[in-house]
Amino acid sequence: MISSVRTEHPAQCPYDEVVAERAATLRESGEAVVLAIESSCDETAASVVKNGRQILSNVVSSQIDTHRLYGGVVPEIASRLHGEQIEIVVSEALMQADCALSGIDAIAVTNGPGLVGCLLVGLSYAKGLSFTERLPLYLVQHIEGHIASNYIADPNLKPPFIALVASGGHSHIYAVDDYQTIRLLGATRDDAAGEAFDKAARALGLSYPGGPALEALAEKGNPQAFPFHSAFNDSAQLDLSFSGMKTALLNHIHNAEQRQETISYADLAASFQSALVQTLTKKCLLACQQSGYSTLTLAGGVAANKALRQSLQSSAEAAGLRFVCPPPSLCGDNAAMIGAAGYYALLQSEPATLSSNAQPGRRLASQ
Ligand code: KG4
Ligand code: ZN
Repeated sequence: MISSVRTEHPAQCPYDEVVAERAATLRESGEAVVLAIESSCDETAASVVKNGRQILSNVVSSQIDTHRLYGGVVPEIASRLHGEQIEIVVSEALMQADCALSGIDAIAVTNGPGLVGCLLVGLSYAKGLSFTERLPLYLVQHIEGHIASNYIADPNLKPPFIALVASGGHSHIYAVDDYQTIRLLGATRDDAAGEAFDKAARALGLSYPGGPALEALAEKGNPQAFPFHSAFNDSAQLDLSFSGMKTALLNHIHNAEQRQETISYADLAASFQSALVQTLTKKCLLACQQSGYSTLTLAGGVAANKALRQSLQSSAEAAGLRFVCPPPSLCGDNAAMIGAAGYYALLQSEPATLSSNAQPGRRLASQ
């Protein structure tokens, strides 16, 4: 059990007053150690982050082995597992940071978008801690969290910049005008990049989650073997489409089956990955050109893909742009990114109230 070491227990003071006073002090000083919690999908995560940039601990408990049995995330199972793990993960994060609750200044938690039952576990836990410890509570939008992983990756990174968020649910290109002012420039019209990887991987007989498995198979194949061209992605607008590529991949497999021909799954994987990477790269460079911003960042689970990282890095350099992306450990869902985003929420906004709810469809404030 987590225990506080305060001498005068804060629960004896009125919540609203203490929290408002503490929040004002933090905003003024700009110094804050944030305990962050993330439980929006299939990772239970907690982290202690100092001043939005320095990770003191980062603990992630993944449920992937359980969901793999079903070929995808089962929401009911996911929320039950979060319930089992949350206390353990938070305690571990505090221990690894060598920090008691008395050393925490504020709590940041993801409250959307995500699976409602999963979000409620993290949010309820965070609200409980906020109440008992009288700690200001900040609600972080999950995508804003992914973008903020770049503040940890590069301590000198400051807005404005372009951010590509490529995850299981998102392929979105944003203009980050300021820490909390984020404009959507373009998004997928159908499948997200991670979803496209997962669906293509399933067609190739690979297990969930498909992205890393498809990447491993692609390393053995020829990226030029099959053309996966999408006319939609040729235009100068910043929206994307991946479902045509996925259908083309399925057609190649079915046609080969009908003709009883063998087809190289490694070549299919390599060509599919290459087309997806080229499309994302082209649209990101276009976004930089159109916005005039000279820094490009990447985030989200798909940001772990080496081909995508290399393509964006080399294309950005060739175009005279700076490229920043988080290490693979901060690409998938984690709480350090929520701590980074929570720090900027703390500097610029009031804490949330204890009546705040999960918002499964929460969009970015400026979207
Ligand atoms: O950000 P994330 O952990 O969870 C969401 O918020 O969706 O992203 C998960 C997605 C999955 O679709 C997974 O297949 C994909 O990221 N992914 C990858 C790689 N690692 C994870 N996709 C391509 N290559 C990878 N190495
Ligand atoms: Zn995510």
